[in-house]
Amino acid sequence: MSDTSATLQRIQALTEQLHHLNYQYYQRDISEISDQEFDQLLAELQQLEAEHPDLALPNSPTRRVGGTITKQFPTADHRYPMLSLGNTYSEDDLREFDERVQKGLEGAPYSYVCELKIDGVAMSLRYEHGQLTQGVTRGDGTRGDVVTANVRTIKTLPLALRPGDNRPEDFEVRGEVFLPLPVFEELNAEREQNGEALLANPRNAASGTLKLQNSAQVAARKLRFYAYSLLTPGRHFASHSAALEALTRYGLPVSDTWRRAATISEVLDFVHYWAKKRFDLPVATDGIVIKVDNLRQQDQLGYTAKSPRWAIAYKYPAEAARTRLNEVLYNVGRTGAVTPVAVLTPVPLAGTVVKRATLHNANQIEALDLRLGDLVFVEKGGEIIPKITGVDLDARPAGATPIQYPTACPACGTPLVRPEGEAHFRCPNERGCPPQLRARLEHYVSRKALNIDGLGAETVGRFFELGMVKTPADIYDLPARRPELVTLERLGEKSIDNLITGIEASRQVPFPRVLFGMGIRYVGETVAQKLAAHYRGIDALMVASAEEMAAVPEVGGVIAVAAAHWFQQPENRQLIERLRQAGVQLEVTGEAPVPASDRLAGLTFVLSGVFEQHSRDELQQLIISNGGKITGSISKKLSYLVAGENMGPAKREKALGFKVPIISETDLMALLPAPDEVRSPEMAPEEEALRPPAPPAAGPGQQGLLF
Ligand code: IVH
Repeated sequence: MSDTSATLQRIQALTEQLHHLNYQYYQRDISEISDQEFDQLLAELQQLEAEHPDLALPNSPTRRVGGTITKQFPTADHRYPMLSLGNTYSEDDLREFDERVQKGLEGAPYSYVCELKIDGVAMSLRYEHGQLTQGVTRGDGTRGDVVTANVRTIKTLPLALRPGDNRPEDFEVRGEVFLPLPVFEELNAEREQNGEALLANPRNAASGTLKLQNSAQVAARKLRFYAYSLLTPGRHFASHSAALEALTRYGLPVSDTWRRAATISEVLDFVHYWAKKRFDLPVATDGIVIKVDNLRQQDQLGYTAKSPRWAIAYKYPAEAARTRLNEVLYNVGRTGAVTPVAVLTPVPLAGTVVKRATLHNANQIEALDLRLGDLVFVEKGGEIIPKITGVDLDARPAGATPIQYPTACPACGTPLVRPEGEAHFRCPNERGCPPQLRARLEHYVSRKALNIDGLGAETVGRFFELGMVKTPADIYDLPARRPELVTLERLGEKSIDNLITGIEASRQVPFPRVLFGMGIRYVGETVAQKLAAHYRGIDALMVASAEEMAAVPEVGGVIAVAAAHWFQQPENRQLIERLRQAGVQLEVTGEAPVPASDRLAGLTFVLSGVFEQHSRDELQQLIISNGGKITGSISKKLSYLVAGENMGPAKREKALGFKVPIISETDLMALLPAPDEVRSPEMAPEEEALRPPAPPAAGPGQQGLLF
C-alpha cells in the first residue's frame, strides 16, 4: 500500500470514528471514551490534515470551529417553498380546523402529530450522500441566504450522517435554529457588563447570530437546532411521524416532545399540558404546531397561497399579570448610566414569580405616566425579560404619587447629566461613584477580560466593599497582603492560594484583553483587538489623537473620542503606570502572535515540574491566551495536571486520587490550535472548542437534546 493510501485510510477511519463519537455524545449522551482520548484522536486527524491538505474530507470533524468570513451571503432558491403556518390563539379555531380537515378528507380516518413551536429561526438544510452540504434561511420563502458555514458550527448538528438505514441520498431537513435560554441569558448578562444594548429575545439573538459574518463568532454563541420535517423528491415515508423517527435514527436532533394525537381532544390535552410546562424548558416556545400525520392525506388537503391546509399553529397568549408598583430603584452601571427598575408586589407570570421589571429610562416612565402605588400590567417580552406595558388607570389609588426621577446619583449624590441624544441619565462621577468603581472591577476580572481564576465578580465586589481594592491595579497588591486575606471569613487557605496563582497568571493575559478589561466606554472586545493590533502597545495609544484612532478600521468617531479622552485622564494614566509596574501585558508580544482561541475555555490546569520545550511562563501564557485557566491546587474539578520533569510525588498522587488526567507538555501542545489555525491578533478571540465539553458533574446530561 502506498503511503498516501495508508494516510487516506487513516484519515477516513479517524473521521468516521470521530463522527460516531460525536453522535453518541451529542445525540445519545454517551461518552465512549474520555475527553482526553477524544482530543488525541482529533489532534491526530488535525495533524494528518495539515500534512496532507489534499486528503482532508470536506466534512471532517475538525472543520466545525468556524473561521470562515462571509462578506455577503449568497442566496439560493428553495427547492420546495418555505411556507408559514396559519396561526390561531383560540381553541374554537382549533376545533374549526379539525372540522375542515375532516371535511377535506371526506370522512376517512386520520390522526395528528403535535409538536412544540420553537421560537427561533427557520432553516433548511440539505444532506447529499449523507453529508451536510447547504444551510439556507427562509428568506422570502422562495429564496434565502446561504449560511452553511454558520450552521456547521452547531454542535448537535451532524455534518455527516450514519451510514445505512435506507436513507434517501438527497434530502432536505427543515427545522428551527435557536439559542437555548441559559445561553441567551449569559449573552445578555455579558452585554450588560460591557455596556452594550441588550438583545430583546432569543429569536432575535439567534437570527442575528446566523447573520454574523465570522463563523468563529457564531461557533462561540452555541446555537442549537431542532428538526421538524424531512423533504424528499419522491414519497419516501408514509407519515410525518415516520419521517420524524427516521430523522432521529439518522442522528439529527429532533425534540422528543412530539406526540401522536388520535382526536382533536387529544390535541387540546397536549396544548393544555404544555401551557405551563413549556416554561420549564431551556428553550423559548410560543405555541404548538398540529400536523395531519398521513402524508398522502396532507397532499389531499393541499395548500392555500401561504400555508398548508393540513397544519396549524396554536399560539399561547402573551402572558400578562396585574400587580402593584411599590417603588422605583435606580441602578448605576459601569459607565454611569442610570436605569430605573420597578419593584413590584410579587406576581406569578409565565412560569416565574416576577418581583422586578425594567423601566428602561426616564422617557418610558413619562410615556406610561406611572405613579407609585399604581396597578400596572406586566408582560414578559419574548417570554423573558419582564416589562411594564401599561397602567390600570381605573384602579389608580387616590394618593398615588408621581415618580420623581432623581436629579442626583442615587449612589453618590453627584448631579446627573443627560448627554444630548441619549435616553439615559448618567452619573458623571467616574472616579468616585461606588457602583461604577465596583462594576469596573467586575469587568476587569470577567471571563473575556483578565479572566482571573479565584477572583470572580462576587469576590472582587467583596474586596471592594471592604475597601481593599478600588482599582484594577490594587488587585496586584493582594498577593502581598496574605496576612490580611487569611483573616477574612469564608476565604480559606486554598481559596487564597488559588486567588494568588490566578492573579500571578493574569500577568500573562495578552494585551488586547487587558485593554478590553480597562473598561473604556464603547471599547468592546473587537475594538480592543483592532486598537491593540494597530498601536501594538499602550504607549502609542496614550499619545494617539482621536482623529488618528478614528482612522483605524472598525473604530468610529464616537469610540475614538471616548478612548482618547480616557487616555488623557490623570487617574487612568496612573492606573496604566501601576499595571505596568505589576507586570501586566501592555504590549502585543513577539513577532508572531501567541496562538489564541477559546479551545481551552472552561478547562483548568496546574503546571508542575520543569518543562523542556517552553518556560513555565510561556506555557501559562499559551493556556491563558487559549481561554484556559491556571490554578494552584489539585481538586477533583481540575481538568489537567501538566507534568514536567521532577514533579512532586504528592501532586501526582493527589491527581491520581481525583482521577485528574496527568498530561505532558507535548499533550498540552496537542490541545492547542494547529499553527495554521493561529489567528492574527486582528481576529475575534471567540473560537469554539473542538472537542465536546466534559459532561456535567450531575451525570450525562443536557449537552445533546434539551428536552
Ligand atoms: S412546520 C409549512 N413545525 O414556525 C410550514 N414549524 O410559520 C411548516 N416552527 O417559521 C412549518 N416550530 O420555522 C413547523 N415544530 C414546528 C415548528 C415550526 C417552529 C416555525 C417555523 C416557521 C413558523 C411557522
